[in-house]
Formats: sequence, C-alpha cells, structure tokens
Amino acid sequence: MKIIKTTNEMRSLALEEKISEKRIACVPTMGFLHEGHLSLIKRAKQVADVVVVTLFVNPTQFSPNEDFAQYPRDLQRDSELCLAAGADYLFAPSAEEIYPAGYNTEVTVKGVSELFEGKFRPIHFNGVATVVAKLFNIIHPDYAVFGQKDYQQTLVVKQMVRDLLLGVEIIVAPIIRENSGLAKSSRNTYLSDEQKTQALVLSQSLKLAADAIAAGETKSAKINKIMHDNIEKSAFSKIDYACAARAKDLTEPEEFAHGEEVVLLIAAYLGKVRLIDNCLVTIK
Ligand code: PAF
Repeated sequence: MKIIKTTNEMRSLALEEKISEKRIACVPTMGFLHEGHLSLIKRAKQVADVVVVTLFVNPTQFSPNEDFAQYPRDLQRDSELCLAAGADYLFAPSAEEIYPAGYNTEVTVKGVSELFEGKFRPIHFNGVATVVAKLFNIIHPDYAVFGQKDYQQTLVVKQMVRDLLLGVEIIVAPIIRENSGLAKSSRNTYLSDEQKTQALVLSQSLKLAADAIAAGETKSAKINKIMHDNIEKSAFSKIDYACAARAKDLTEPEEFAHGEEVVLLIAAYLGKVRLIDNCLVTIK
C-alpha cells in the first residue's frame, strides 16, 4: 500500500490505474478508523480492482464551535489498518493541498442539505460536498463507498453526483454496531464507559420506533414521540431531532404510505458529545 500526500501524485497514480483499465473505488474518511470504515474498504474491494482510502479531517465541514481541533488523529495506526484491510493507496493530504491559498469556490447542494443536520450544522454539508467533489476530481473513482451511519450525507453526495454529472457510483454500506448496539463512530472515543452504556438509548429508541412501525404505526407524530419520550427520560441532555422521514428525500409527511421506505434519524447530546444514529424501515 502506498501512502500519498500530494494531489499531483494521487492524480497521476489514479490516472495510471485508469489507463491500465483498473476500476477504482474510493473510501473517503476522516481517519481514526474503526470497524465501520474497515467494512467500507471491504465493500470497495468487492466492486473494484483498486481501493483508494482518503484520510483528511476536513476543516470546512466543522463550525468554529465544533470538534475540529479535538478530532482524533493517528496516521500510523490508520495506515496499518488500511494495509491490513487491503487498501492499495492511502491518500492523506495536508489542508494546503486540498484548500490552496486563495481558494474561493465551494459546492452547495440545495434541498436535502438544508434539512435535519443542515438546520443544526449550517455549513457542514457545504464542507462535505466541496471536499468530496475535490477528492472525486483528483481520483476519478468509478465507485465511492460511504457508511449509512451518516445517512443524510449519502443523500447529499448522491444529489451532488447526479447534479454535477460526476459519473461516480455511490455505494452505501450498513452501519456497523458494537455488540451492545452502539453504532461505531470515531467520536465514540469522546465517551466514558458509563456514557457508552447511556448512549445505547439511541439504538434502543430506534428499535422502539421500528417495532411500532412493524406493528402497524404509520403516523409520523406518533413515531417521533416514541423516540422523544425514550430519549427524554435518559441521560441525554438535548435532542436536535428524533424523527421519521422518507428515506429517499427526508421529507416528513404526516402519515407514511404502505410500502414506503422510512429512515428514523436521531441526533442528540450526551454531555458535550453530539451523537447521531439512524435505521431504515419499510412501512407495512
Ligand atoms: O463521513 C466522513 O467521514 C466525512 O464527512 C467525509 C465524507 C470523509 C468528508 O470529509
């Protein structure tokens, strides 16, 4: 596995692979890899000849009050994990490589970016769309693999790929959870053992709502209340949202139609740590 630090080198190596008719899959990450990321690399290996993992803690997707400075970083550990998972390239550029001095262009995806996360983290998806567009422009992958954990992000990236005719097939891989049910996340490193147990309220709330849907519930207010009630009586201090929405575009009808695919989405604070989780269910 080659570790690449510059845009020019990554661009020419990816081009060489393309000239040799290799199919490239890209796995964009912010590093501090866990089993969730490793499952994305595994998925990428199933579809492509060459896997490029990108590792870049993207400053433009963090607001000034967020955790950019504390975000865990360990290139040595990440490169060992990528090598063991079978990645071919690890692209770990500096901020100057991705945002050269004087850069003045960003990608805004309207609509789906403005809902849920977009309301609470207004600049977040501009930063995500901009950096993912740049990575795609450097690597020109045939495929890119993202985790369902950031469900709204997958919709934003798909919309951008369609709108900008980028020609990259977006693959969404399932959430990987601890045995306890806690969704794997690099941000779990911020949690104490006690908080890791308290955080299980999120996956339990999703399950309660999914069970209600399986039992025939179709009204979004009732589904949302189940999640809110369960989180409110827990150690979580603040709920940004706990909502059912249409999986295809995150719109929120009063009542879901039979057969509709729904995503249950939660973002809430445990102490200072903001956690997100989601699950997909089909209305009976
Ligand atoms: O999901 C992430 O880790 C990031 O948002 C991404 C896609 C790597 C862009 O910085």
